[in-house]
Amino acid sequence: MEQFRTLLPSEVHFGAGKTSVLADKVAGKSVLLMSDKGVVGAGIAAKVAELLKANAASYNEFLEVPPEPREDEVTAVAGSLSGMEVDIIVAVGGGSVMDMAKMVAVMLNGGAAIEDMFDGKLPTVRKSLLATIPTTAGTGAEATPNAIIFRPAHNLKVGIVCDLFIPDLVILDPELLLKLPAPITASTGLDALCHALECYISNKANPLSDMLAVEATSLIFKSLKKCYAEGSDIKARADMLLASFYAGICIASAGTNIVHALSYPLGGRYRIAHGVSNAILLAPGFACNKDCCEEKLAAIYHLTGDKGEGLSVAEKADKFVEYLAQLSKDLGIPATLPELGVPPEDLDSIVDAAFEVKRLLNNNPKPLTKDDIRKVYLSIF
Ligand SMILES: NC(=O)c1ccc[n+]([C@@H]2O[C@H](COP(=O)([O-])OP(=O)(O)OC[C@H]3O[C@@H](n4cnc5c(N)ncnc54)[C@H](O)[C@@H]3O)[C@@H](O)[C@H]2O)c1
Ligand SMILES: [Fe+2]
Repeated sequence: MEQFRTLLPSEVHFGAGKTSVLADKVAGKSVLLMSDKGVVGAGIAAKVAELLKANAASYNEFLEVPPEPREDEVTAVAGSLSGMEVDIIVAVGGGSVMDMAKMVAVMLNGGAAIEDMFDGKLPTVRKSLLATIPTTAGTGAEATPNAIIFRPAHNLKVGIVCDLFIPDLVILDPELLLKLPAPITASTGLDALCHALECYISNKANPLSDMLAVEATSLIFKSLKKCYAEGSDIKARADMLLASFYAGICIASAGTNIVHALSYPLGGRYRIAHGVSNAILLAPGFACNKDCCEEKLAAIYHLTGDKGEGLSVAEKADKFVEYLAQLSKDLGIPATLPELGVPPEDLDSIVDAAFEVKRLLNNNPKPLTKDDIRKVYLSIF
């Protein structure tokens, strides 16, 4: 019988305006708001800060979380905040802010050391509560036990997986996404699609992840282009927030694979935004995997809007991959790596780095050789 283990956030609120539930949640508590410049610029952090100041026993803020944080930045931020009394951390932002908040939550005030976590010695205590409010849709980090950190010495992004990273409170409020710029809407939305589809074909796919991955894919096909074309479409934004949350739950038990494994070296070395480096690899990764998951891809082909009458399983799988390539194109994702500043002479070292991302490659339905990986990258050089 199939087996799986997963963890879920204990309290989730979904709906326009639901950020207001924070008022009760922080009453009588010392609160630390974490966010970043883009979220501050969109006027979101100030609104949340106002709510927190009016209701919490004490209020502190750190609004300068760097994009896609590095190991040394995490250490510096946790160090600078130590000594502060914090009952609850409220993280308002995309994956960068949520991942930083997860790390700070376990490192603060004599907590875990980051080197130990990279060595697999995970903390067993988190002294503060953790609330996450995603403003991209997105990483699904609000539902995962992961924090993704760039390690400059290794030139690679590394995922730390720890049960304590599952938040206590999640608020999915589509009002916060109405001003998310179109290019970020596109790349983060395609990241969510990668999560859903990679989990759907993962070696660790299970009944729960399959159900949520299919629903997430359906919502993304329905609403991502709408959000890209008209950012203020709140129904479409709500669909995307739900989809990225569902896909995050999938990650927790099924795990990403080919796309994220090959994306990690790009994000690390060339500082290509996570969503972009995944989006460019989505169709090529699935083209590589296709012969190992034709049945599964054919089974969801109808989500593209075409019933596929008269098509064979192989034809449906082919056309599904073509649909992914067209979707990325329609959403303005570059088609080649040199457009993103990756020089062709780096190919060998990128292949070597991707081959080391065993945590994710082990989830891939097709055992990948270095030659397979090279072919995928070559198709976008
Ligand atoms: N922990 C996980 O499970 C997980 C999963 C996938 C990715 N990640 C990590 O998450 C990071 C990427 O997160 P992301 O894709 O959400 O991007 P991000 O958090 O880096 O945000 C991208 C940009 O959008 C801005 N922004 C965010 N919300 C906004 C809004 N509502 N309005 C206007 N601007 C807004 C930010 O300020 C930033 O400039 C990467 O480091 C990636 O590795 C983590
Ligand atoms: Fe991702």
